[in-house]
Amino acid sequence: MSELCFQVTPGGCLSGRLRVPGDKSISHRSIMLGALAEGETRISGFLEGEDSLATLAAFRVMGVAIEGPEVGRVRVQGVGLHGLREPDGPLYLGNSGTSMRLMSGLLAGQAFTTVLRGDRSLSGRPMKRVVEPLSRMGARIDATAQGTAPLTIHGGCALDGINYAMPVASAQVKSSLLLAGMYATGRTCVSEPAPTRDHTERMLAGMGYPIQRKHGRVCLEGGYTLHGIAIDIPADISSAAFFLVGASIAPGSDLILEHVGMNPTRTGIIDILRRMGADIEVHNPCDICGEPVADLHVHSASLHGIDIPPELVPLAIDEFPVIFVAAACARGRTMLAGAEELRVKESDRIQVMADGLNALGVAAEATPDGMIIDGGEIGGGRVDSHGDHRIAMAFTIAALRAKGNIEIQDCTNVNTSFPGFVTQARQIGIHVEISG
Ligand code: S3P
Repeated sequence: MSELCFQVTPGGCLSGRLRVPGDKSISHRSIMLGALAEGETRISGFLEGEDSLATLAAFRVMGVAIEGPEVGRVRVQGVGLHGLREPDGPLYLGNSGTSMRLMSGLLAGQAFTTVLRGDRSLSGRPMKRVVEPLSRMGARIDATAQGTAPLTIHGGCALDGINYAMPVASAQVKSSLLLAGMYATGRTCVSEPAPTRDHTERMLAGMGYPIQRKHGRVCLEGGYTLHGIAIDIPADISSAAFFLVGASIAPGSDLILEHVGMNPTRTGIIDILRRMGADIEVHNPCDICGEPVADLHVHSASLHGIDIPPELVPLAIDEFPVIFVAAACARGRTMLAGAEELRVKESDRIQVMADGLNALGVAAEATPDGMIIDGGEIGGGRVDSHGDHRIAMAFTIAALRAKGNIEIQDCTNVNTSFPGFVTQARQIGIHVEISG
């Protein structure tokens, strides 16, 4: 367990303008697809967090020349779909589920064998969801008896396209199969039970790879080429989410979040907060490299509890830790159901959030697939983030409305998705210190 803790003093309001770091999902994909492209991909706004840096390091080890990152700028010299080199040893992917699941698909199409490892959290997360459909395509992947990492992805397997109806709404599974599909004979089609983030599809199309999308089904054929492009990565709405909630719950707040990614498969947080009564305005909407972007202007507002519509769950899947904090500050009851996926994220986000909220005196009840929260007072106390970056940041936000100091344990992994969180949080008015 990490020694790093956050000590947060209650109160404060959020004001000013801020651009949070680059989108994590797009950062991963820019390295992976840039590496497999013909020619150079020039990236700006790359997230210099541990997760996307793990992807970057893995492709360097596989022989891809990558310059940077330097203040978010990266240049990837693509080696083409068949130009990766066999790594000398296992690839270590830290805490990053996106790296492991997407790379499983991509590596299933290589001539060489790769071993993928991760930290304790990643080594406990379900990988069968990619191993099973990839095996149906002809891949040979060894996992532990529990279906977890380390994964050995055997090279030299001929892949065939499949039609796959995903049992869970997962962008990681969909992307993994599409990446494998580029190496397969024939057509690969993936249907999703509900819309999930579509950054892979957008970037494939942007790089000139033919891809068809209709009614929740995406298809591509193997054997085409990716072309290097310029990619400007917007600020991560999943990082902005902490300050969207913070500015909503802290009286007197007036905050502008700049250049935020507004892909409609990611904006569930805005819909949910608005339904709770939040005051969020969208300014300067534009399209950058195939992704919608805008500035968000947030004023504090009086929130009320809601039943979260099930169709918004996959569109806000990473934001629930901080949505639970909004619910704790809202008048009345908030109910979430249909979100059992939260139990297999970097931590069991239902249990860990319920435990932390209870420790602060909030009436939060974990259910198998969600949470019931009765808004009220937030007390002070100590909470354990269980090494989950989004839990650590969510409880930092909770302190804005707490009655006493909050100590958050095991916060090192905030660097996986939001390097500089503490500096930016302090800059806009949150009283947070690092200790340990
Ligand atoms: C991601 C997809 C989501 C999300 C994760 C990033 C991606 O996971 O929770 O943080 O970049 O594709 P699932 O596909 O498992 O829902």
